[in-house]
Amino acid sequence: MQKLLIQGGKPLHGEILISGAKNAALPILCAALLTDESLQIGNIPALRDIETMLALLNQMGVSVTSDHNVPGITLSAKQLNNPTAPYEMVKTMRASILVLGPLLARVGQARISLPGGCAIGLRPVDQHIKGLQAMGAEISINHGYINATVKKLQGTRIVFDIVTVTGTENLMMAAVLAEGTTILENAAREPEIIDLANCLAIMGAKIQGAGTDVITIEGQSSLHGAKYSVMPDRIETGTFLVACTATGGEIRLNNTNPHLLGAVIDKLAEAGAQINVSQNHIHLTMNSRLQSVSLRTAPYPAFPTDMQAQFMALNCIGNGTAIITETIFENRLMHVQELKRMNADIEVEGNTAIIRGIPHLDGAHVMATDLRASASLIIAGLVAHGRTTIDRIYHLDRGYENIEQKLSMLGANIQRIN
Ligand code: UD1
Repeated sequence: MQKLLIQGGKPLHGEILISGAKNAALPILCAALLTDESLQIGNIPALRDIETMLALLNQMGVSVTSDHNVPGITLSAKQLNNPTAPYEMVKTMRASILVLGPLLARVGQARISLPGGCAIGLRPVDQHIKGLQAMGAEISINHGYINATVKKLQGTRIVFDIVTVTGTENLMMAAVLAEGTTILENAAREPEIIDLANCLAIMGAKIQGAGTDVITIEGQSSLHGAKYSVMPDRIETGTFLVACTATGGEIRLNNTNPHLLGAVIDKLAEAGAQINVSQNHIHLTMNSRLQSVSLRTAPYPAFPTDMQAQFMALNCIGNGTAIITETIFENRLMHVQELKRMNADIEVEGNTAIIRGIPHLDGAHVMATDLRASASLIIAGLVAHGRTTIDRIYHLDRGYENIEQKLSMLGANIQRIN
């Protein structure tokens, strides 16, 4: 099994390119299921979750090609002879549920293993199922599989009980080929939903209100092929910003979109970082004493749960006491135990962590428990005194493209070993 070795204590300096967004690329790949013409997608990050999704689509009958003359990859779902997502392929990735809506819309049937993914909570898919049933699908769950059939999905009004990102995306993709108009209320407002809607619109879908909590979709009889480039990864961007705020130094992140990171940038400024932004880059300088920052996660545009673990690491060495409350997932504080192995002073009560800043962390042998927890341990390792070894970094490869190369380019002492 691979591990990361980090020798802490070096400030970050330099500039890097931000990759395409994992959480936008995954639903956009699934959008290829909605047409028998080709979808050419650029700015796809090289990640394990993307490989898993491509393998999943491929075994359904989608051809996946890349050609050095054409940027990105081309997906073509001319025929879908196997609308099934088997357990072995989806157990590591919850986003595999995103094939359900498109398959029902296009071929009227799907057999999908209940998804896995990070062990950060129960993460049921009841809202996806409830919405598709409201659109006329017959759905049963047995032997760990969701079995769904429908003659033709019907547009309707759906009010989500809770705000769900992939739930909103799944129903949006189902609705683009449904008969009539679908209205999604209490929809998630994440930028990745706008990116998916933009791609669907280029494919001929009629969608209004993506990015607000009411999305209206007028079903079309078919969609056509298109070219699309995935938005930059706001969580990868935020992770590097936190890393530099923790270590001190000066970095510039290119090919990103600062306007998607309002809540995160505000918190980093509160922590003492100086941040300048332009249309597609962010420049961060940290040369003052790091201040602790309290936060509460909530759906976009509030503070993202996917940045909570990284800020936990930051607060370990902040000046003062911070309170972090996780409101999205019920089991997303697993990194606390590992940070404590590095001497962090953190107390957990329910879904709240109280972090008392200490002058420095100590390097230690720690274990990554989920994707963003891995990033938090890297940040802790970068600021710790001495050497940190991180085990189980396969979580990291699901969602960060070349993270150790990018950190090395910024001057960090980090290496992957077998
Ligand atoms: C997406 C992101 C993930 C991010 C999360 C919250 C992708 C591929 N992943 O995950 O990185 O952490 O949004 O911003 O985009 N829930 C239900 N029933 C449902 C669906 C969700 O109870 O049918 C609950 C979940 O258990 C969770 C909350 O709703 O507590 C939010 O989950 P959701 O927004 O669906 O997360 P994902 O879309 O899986």
